[in-house]
Amino acid sequence: MLLDTYGRIATDLRVSLTDRCNLRCTYCMPEEGLSWLAKPELLTDDEIVRLVDIAVTRLGVTEVRFTGGEPLLRPGLVGIVERCAALRPRPKLSLTTNGIGLERTAAALRDAGLDRVNVSLDTTDPAVFERITRRRRHGDVLRGLAAAKAAGLTPVKVNAVLMPGLNDTEAPGLLAWAMAHGYELRFIEQMPLDAQHGWQRAEMITAGDILASLRTRFTLTPEETERRGSAPAERWLVDGGPHRVGVIASVTRPFCRACDRTRLTADGQVRTCLFATEESDLRGALRSGAGDEEIAARWRAAMWGKKAGSGLDDPESFEQPSRPMSAIGG
Ligand code: GTP
Ligand code: 5AD
Ligand code: SF4
Repeated sequence: MLLDTYGRIATDLRVSLTDRCNLRCTYCMPEEGLSWLAKPELLTDDEIVRLVDIAVTRLGVTEVRFTGGEPLLRPGLVGIVERCAALRPRPKLSLTTNGIGLERTAAALRDAGLDRVNVSLDTTDPAVFERITRRRRHGDVLRGLAAAKAAGLTPVKVNAVLMPGLNDTEAPGLLAWAMAHGYELRFIEQMPLDAQHGWQRAEMITAGDILASLRTRFTLTPEETERRGSAPAERWLVDGGPHRVGVIASVTRPFCRACDRTRLTADGQVRTCLFATEESDLRGALRSGAGDEEIAARWRAAMWGKKAGSGLDDPESFEQPSRPMSAIGG
C-alpha cells in the first residue's frame, strides 16, 4: 500500500512515457521545445512494465494512466498497454493524449486492453488552435477523437484550458460541440507548470469565470458530491442531463486532501505530486539490480514523504516545480 502521513492511499498511478511532444502549447512549452531526455535516460518498455507490475501486485495500484509529453509518440505504447493489461489483478488502463495519431492507433490500443482516453483540445476553431499550440493540427485531433469514440475507448473526455484573449469566450461553444459529439468536456484551470514560468495568478481564468460563462447559455446543476471521490473534476449536469460538464479547479478549489495519485516520470523518478519538489530515483534502483521488494520499499518510502498539498493555495510561499508539465506527466 502507498500510504502517506496524512492517511491518503495512492491507488492511481500516472506514468509519463516520454517528455517529447508534437505540439507547442503556450501554457506548456516554448516555441523551440525543450531539451529532451536522451534515450538512455528513458525507462525502457521492460522497465516500465516491471514498475507497473510492482505497483499493481505489491503496492495496491488499481488504475494506471499513461501520459507524456505526448504518449502516442512512444513507439512501444501498444505493447506496453498489452503487457500491463495482462497483469493480475488487472489495472484499469487509460491514456491522456493530444489526439494526434489516435486516428491510426485507437483500435489497436483498444485491442491491447486500453479502457479509455482523455484528449486535450482547447478550441473548436482551427485558427485559434494554431495560436495556442503553434501547429496546424486541429483536424488531426478531431479525427483522433472520432476514432477513439468509434473504437469504444469511452467515455471519451476532452480537457480544455482557457486563456485570456485566446479562447476565454469559447466555454459555451466548446460545451455545445462536445455534447453534440458525445464527449465529456472538462475545463481545467491553468496551473503554473509551464517551462517558461509565465503563469500569473491574476490572469488565470478561474472555475468561477468558467461557470458564469457557461450559465449564460446552459442551466447547470451540481452532481451529488459523494460521486466525486478523489476525481479532480467537479461535475455539473447540463440542462438537467444526461450530459455533464466538469471543472478541474486545481488552483481555486484544490483537491489535495483526497489525492490518490502517485507518478512516475519518463526517466523513472517517483513524484508524489505534480508540484513535488523532490523525486525518488527508481531507475537507479532498477539498473543497479534491486529486487522487486526493494523497489516497492523505496516507492512506499517516497509516498510516506508526500506533502499535504500543492501549496498553490498559499501564493506567498508557493514554488513552481523545476520540471515543466511535459516532463512530469500531466
Ligand atoms: P479521469 O480519471 O478521466 O478523471 O482523469 P484525470 O482528470 O485525472 O486525468 P487527466 O490526465 O485528463 O488530467 C486532467 C487534468 O487534471 C490535467 O490538467 C492534470 O494536470 C490535472 N491533474 C491530474 N492529476 C492531478 C493532481 O494530482 N493534482 C492536480 N492539481 N491536478 C491534477
Ligand atoms: N495548466 C493546466 N493544465 C495543463 N495541461 C498542460 N499544461 C497545463 C497547465 N499549465 C493540460 C493539458 C492536458 C492535461 C494533461 O494537462 O491540456 O489536457
Ligand atoms: Fe504537448 Fe500536452 Fe504540453 Fe500541449 S500540454 S505541448 S499537448 S505536452
